[in-house]
Amino acid sequence: MAVERTFAMVKPDGVRRRLVGNVVSRIEAKGYAIVGLKQLTISRELAERHYGEHKGKPFFEGLVSFITSGPVVAMVLEGENAIAGWRGMMGPTNPKDAPCGTVRGDFATTIDENVAHGSDAPATAEREIGIFFPELQG
Ligand code: RTP
Ligand code: MG
Repeated sequence: MAVERTFAMVKPDGVRRRLVGNVVSRIEAKGYAIVGLKQLTISRELAERHYGEHKGKPFFEGLVSFITSGPVVAMVLEGENAIAGWRGMMGPTNPKDAPCGTVRGDFATTIDENVAHGSDAPATAEREIGIFFPELQG
């Protein structure tokens, strides 16, 4: 298994609810290295780039207004199988399907505000790291 990098984020609901420490703690305890970390407020333009694959879907406008509604904490994680591993730690998109022990299972009730983000594939990870951490792209 190769060492991977993935893009992770605590969304505005997670920052508002003071869950950053808990989420970072889970990542550290798992054993991933945090090779980049910053807090920022996502602009509309950045949101439309990041979630470009969802443009035109019924939930797109709500998604953009939510993700720009306050600061997020963006991270690049590194470790063996980090892409699928972090997705597993977050749990399914809809918190109603997310088991206890996952970030979404433990901290969220609604698909619209599900606390965390993670890249879903190697190409996505590369694209998202490039958007948020151009200084780390090799
Ligand atoms: P994310 O990109 O935010 O990490 O979430 P994800 O991969 O688990 O899910 P994705 O399909 O990429 O959807 C992005 C975000 O859009 C909202 N969504 N709403 N109402 C709906 O059917 C619906 N589907 C997706 C969610 O907030 C999801 O996190
Ligand atoms: Mg996604």
